[in-house]
Amino acid sequence: MRLQQLLSADEVAQARRWLAEGEWIDGRSTAGPQAAAVKHNEQLAEGPQAQHLRELVLQALERQPLFLSAALPRRVLPPAFNRYRGDRNAYGAHVDQAIRTHPGGALRADLSCTLFLSPPESYDGGELIVGLGPAGGDGPGAGQPFKLPAGDALLYPASTLHRVAPVTRGERLASFFWIESLVPRSDERQLLFEMDMALMRLRQREIDSAGQESPEAVALTGTYHNLLRLWART
Ligand code: NI
Repeated sequence: MRLQQLLSADEVAQARRWLAEGEWIDGRSTAGPQAAAVKHNEQLAEGPQAQHLRELVLQALERQPLFLSAALPRRVLPPAFNRYRGDRNAYGAHVDQAIRTHPGGALRADLSCTLFLSPPESYDGGELIVGLGPAGGDGPGAGQPFKLPAGDALLYPASTLHRVAPVTRGERLASFFWIESLVPRSDERQLLFEMDMALMRLRQREIDSAGQESPEAVALTGTYHNLLRLWART
């Protein structure tokens, strides 16, 4: 799912200034053994810039209702930042690790998120290709490419096989992070999301026309919460 304008143009510009000031290290330092073999990028080192950037991204997520409804986040791993360019310009097919450890403990990665920070016209290649079949390559199983405007993010199940195509011109900056959801199963999460979106539109239409919610909308909202109660793990 695409989260449009998670960051405003001003916030993207500020983020890019911090990224330009920071120090960059080999991206393999945070990958598991399988991913490290195919990971060729750089990652922003720990420092004041990384701290500011993380706060910026986490604050943006909290004010984004679509993210909250789709991800039902229990915990968000601190966002990290990567750069693809030159000869460190690609990330081959991999599945993100299920369990991510960080100073606060272990987190189950249910959802992966990539926030694009470079304007798409400023680099060639660099597509995030999601949903690769076991065979990869072209044809069936080739996956779906995403190259979103700076400030937009892609949220996708962490169980998905994905890769980043080589950047052949310019540089691609992005933030990436994982989310542990209150609802671990993606099919259940998807049903709740669809119901929540439909309910939001229904309530809005009723409030616009009659000024109050119908008993049916109240009942369906109750069903939403009762399904969430059934499926959520806190
Ligand atoms: Ni990945």
